Amino acid sequence: MGESAWLERETVVAENNSILKINNIEVRYHEVILVLKGVSIEVPHDGIVALLGANGAGKSTTLKAISGLLIHEEGEVTDGSIEFLGARIHKLPAEEIARRGIIQIIEGRRVFEHLTVEENLIVGGHLRPTGIRERLQMVYHYFPRLKERRNLMAGFISGGEQQMCVIGRAMMAQPKLMLLDEPSMGLAPLLIKEIFEIIQRLNREEKIPILLVEQNVKLALTVAPYAYVMENGRIVMDDTSEKLKENPDIRDFYLGLTDVGGRKSFRDVKHYKRRKRWLS
Ligand SMILES: Nc1ncnc2c1ncn2[C@@H]1O[C@H](COP(=O)(O)OP(=O)(O)OP(=O)(O)O)[C@@H](O)[C@H]1O
Ligand SMILES: [Mg+2]
Repeated sequence: MGESAWLERETVVAENNSILKINNIEVRYHEVILVLKGVSIEVPHDGIVALLGANGAGKSTTLKAISGLLIHEEGEVTDGSIEFLGARIHKLPAEEIARRGIIQIIEGRRVFEHLTVEENLIVGGHLRPTGIRERLQMVYHYFPRLKERRNLMAGFISGGEQQMCVIGRAMMAQPKLMLLDEPSMGLAPLLIKEIFEIIQRLNREEKIPILLVEQNVKLALTVAPYAYVMENGRIVMDDTSEKLKENPDIRDFYLGLTDVGGRKSFRDVKHYKRRKRWLS
């Protein structure tokens, strides 16, 4: 087989290997505020992909563009396309996108505070009414803490348990792709470790691909084998996590491994400010 034929074959395999393809999308809020300026991302069928970037970079907007939730904020995909399992979905209503298997876990772990933990989970299963009991057992298998707390009002459990509850609720919908927005936010390191181990198991054992938005870059690069870095509505870098961990910019500005404060150029100062914001 000649080299070009081989390359061609590899390309086809690579394409088939993606469950989600975001092709050069633009997103605007209120018809005029351009927030995503040509973003392309792929998620493989079996993988965890991380989307990294500073505050306001456009990470949550990207997830909402996929799940169809933009519409609630007067946002719209105005160019490009989003393909899920080979079908274009970026003009479909959020309900239909969820029915096709894309479940987003939004920022801020919003549980239904006045429902019990178990009721929260059951609500998550409403899209797939058969087999709810079995899925509940599956969720309790991964989150034994939720089983212990199942009869408590979700408003009264700890922040970490609420995060487990919203992930469990998403699992109840039998997702084919899970979009996770900053699951580590505001949680203690030990809890973060526990939650991320479970996320990795869900990916590995339940074969759920995950697109993970995280500001904790070190953690994200440990959990996800591949990552995209977003700045100001654009993807500025994407690579394997192995390579990104060695990248000097990532080491300086995102992992804080070198003496950034000693640098002088405008670009570096700009980065430095951003890094300070990240760490604050
Ligand atoms: N509903 C909205 N209307 C107008 N502008 C918005 C809206 N939501 C977000 N934006 C703007 O879009 C940009 C990207 O916001 P987004 O929430 O996607 O960033 P992010 O990367 O998730 O940030 P963070 O890390 O703070 O969560 C920001 O400049 C924000 O102010
Ligand atoms: Mg966000």
